[in-house]
Amino acid sequence: MSPKAVITGWGKCVPPVELTNQDLEKVMDTNDQWIFERTGIKSRRISHVEGTDLAELAARRALACAGLEPEELDLIVVASTTPELLCPSVAAMVQDRLGAVNAGTFDLNAACSGFVYATANITGMIESGFVKKVLVIGAEKLHIAMDYRDRSTAILFGDGAGAAVYEATEGDAGVLAVDLGADGSMGYTMVFPSLGTRGEPYEARPIEDVRLYFEGQPIFKMAVKGMAASTEKTLERAGLTVDDVDLVIPHQANARIIDAATRRMGIPPEKVFTNIENLGNTAAASIPMAISDAAAAGRLHPGDIVAFPAFGGGITWGTLIMRWGQRTEPVGTHQGELPPTDATVFDLLENNLRFFAPLHGRDSADPII
Ligand code: UT7
Repeated sequence: MSPKAVITGWGKCVPPVELTNQDLEKVMDTNDQWIFERTGIKSRRISHVEGTDLAELAARRALACAGLEPEELDLIVVASTTPELLCPSVAAMVQDRLGAVNAGTFDLNAACSGFVYATANITGMIESGFVKKVLVIGAEKLHIAMDYRDRSTAILFGDGAGAAVYEATEGDAGVLAVDLGADGSMGYTMVFPSLGTRGEPYEARPIEDVRLYFEGQPIFKMAVKGMAASTEKTLERAGLTVDDVDLVIPHQANARIIDAATRRMGIPPEKVFTNIENLGNTAAASIPMAISDAAAAGRLHPGDIVAFPAFGGGITWGTLIMRWGQRTEPVGTHQGELPPTDATVFDLLENNLRFFAPLHGRDSADPII
């Protein structure tokens, strides 16, 4: 029997500076009640450091949790829609900082489905025997692509990183089945126009091209149907039914999407883990951060069947069905922290609010609030 990919370590890095709904009320026409009712979000984080820094700390915490040394890793994969650089990859930078000298590295972009895509990739490599110990990280600094006066996008997204260590293990536990899907014809519904090579390299871009272009309603509908259909398909591949599922840890897109998708499948809310309220939608980082929070909250038990459905830009979707391993407690903890900051959230967003001001009939030199 071939080995299975089992999660043996988990960790997250949540940057300290919060952007609350009340903060957003100061810069756009919105209110806490609307945001919370429509999304389940009260606050999200704005990172004062690069996404690579968040990825590194989440990785160190996941390695300590697994009781592994960086030199033992065979592979590091980072899923990100907002990498600090395209080359070198975030994974390569993290490898250097950790001293994971025996690990290959690559980044992968499947937007909010990135963690599921990365896990699907490395599961095949673990089952074939090519690698034995792998670190998968989801890391995002999404605030870089938001216009904080655009109420249709900036309310949703936040920064953060989560990491999981996978190890080749004999037995019943591990990834049981995966489903990956995409519909590139709908890709226009969620676009970061300025974060690639499109256009002349040194041409100044129109301001509106620098921010996320987003059609919330079609994405909402596709996400509900897509996550439900993908989960059902993956369960079937694993020879299981929805009744076998002990816990769903979905991509934290929007509390209403999670609620509607799991309701559609007949999965009761007490079997669904959410942590979107204080983190917002962190794209590829959301599932690995939620794994850490679910473990800390005692929601994961040995042998549990756990479903991880995701949906995001591309558009892409995917689901993992996993049987959780024996261990639910960390082997060790990593004590490091991010460098401290005295910056307020409006210090961190000042350049952003000035840059996009002309799109909202304001002058860039005006007071930001
Ligand atoms: O993670 C990757 C996948 N992405 C997602 O999962 C996001 C999917 N989409 C969504 O989460 C939702 O579509 C949003 C949260 C973005 C928007 O929620 P919605 O329920 O689809 O609202 P809507 O766009 O239909 O707007 C309803 C009303 C409109 O007013 P009228 O035309 O009915 O008078 C909007 O102008 O709410 C208004 N509105 C707001 N009001 C206060 C829109 N945004 C806001 C806001 N605050 N922030």
